[in-house]
Amino acid sequence: MKIAVLGYGTVGRSICKYIEGDSRDIQIAYVLRRPGKATEPFMTEDFDEILNDPSVGIVVDALSGKIDSYDYMKRALLAGKHVVTANKAALAYAMEELCTIAAKKEVQLKYEASSGGTIPIVSEIISTTHTNYLSSVYGILNGTSNFILDKMINEGSDFAATLKEAQELGYAEADPTADIGGFDVKNKIMILASTAYHGFVTSDFPVSGIEKLTKEILDEYAAEGKTIKLMGISVRNDNDYALGVVPCVIGKDQLEAHVPLNNNMITLVGDMCGEIKLYGQGAGGSPTADALLRDIYSIFNSVNVDVEFQFFRKLRYVPEMLKGSAYIGGTKYEGTLEELVKIAEEKNQFIAFECPEICK
Ligand code: HSE
Repeated sequence: MKIAVLGYGTVGRSICKYIEGDSRDIQIAYVLRRPGKATEPFMTEDFDEILNDPSVGIVVDALSGKIDSYDYMKRALLAGKHVVTANKAALAYAMEELCTIAAKKEVQLKYEASSGGTIPIVSEIISTTHTNYLSSVYGILNGTSNFILDKMINEGSDFAATLKEAQELGYAEADPTADIGGFDVKNKIMILASTAYHGFVTSDFPVSGIEKLTKEILDEYAAEGKTIKLMGISVRNDNDYALGVVPCVIGKDQLEAHVPLNNNMITLVGDMCGEIKLYGQGAGGSPTADALLRDIYSIFNSVNVDVEFQFFRKLRYVPEMLKGSAYIGGTKYEGTLEELVKIAEEKNQFIAFECPEICK
């Protein structure tokens, strides 16, 4: 299968690099670049070249501009090509239209990378809705603002300096007011709620960001054992729903209070599953490229029905790979987990293992 990648920034490059190094039957046919930038033979400035090439099965949108992305995605879908996108602004802007075209053309529009970075939230929502009625989706959905809050709270950092750091690390949008103003979260919660509730939400809901947050406000909440996180919130009752984006007061005993740096945490509430919380890097080139690649390979595997998940490795158990220390009956021991459990069994004592891989 051949794919075309739109954009050659950090994410577009990562995708090309990964696919070029892959032995499966999938190739980059084109990379769409801005005028004057198509310097390699596989690059083009002409989107029609991609559209008119029947060998291109998937168009991967790694652009950041809203209207350009929307236009390319729409034309690709109308041309009968699968589309994979990370562009939350373009998707939130026209999700209903694009999904309707994809359904009519019987092609896939996949958008795992649009929300929650590398967290497999879209596929988890889809899978969960097979058996659950989802009544809420909410969470920390912006890596940049979480990075700023975490650094302000835990290191006493300055808001503006930390935003600059987030920009340098590739977390922030080209216009970071979308991150701190809550509009990036707005796009993401619209996409996730629409998916979770099997219908399209509209954009008329309250959005408030963290621009006015000060160290003093954070300190006041900290004194009460609380913290502040910028959250996208959605609730639903049958066909009724409400959405919002707002800095929320979070108790220190809540998991969300402990989400560090550029990570996100998203919660689904379902009638059978109860709460599911997913956590991982919500922003950055590599996490975003990873989510796009998973969508690409999901289409590739579904089109190539003979390509199924395979247990192709011969695995070997190496107990020395799990070493640490343990308190057994009040005494501290060092060793492999296998050795330590044996000691506990011999002594008929409770074991508390400190695993360096897990207890960081
Ligand atoms: N600017 C976004 C964020 C990038 O900080 O979460 C990932 O969507």
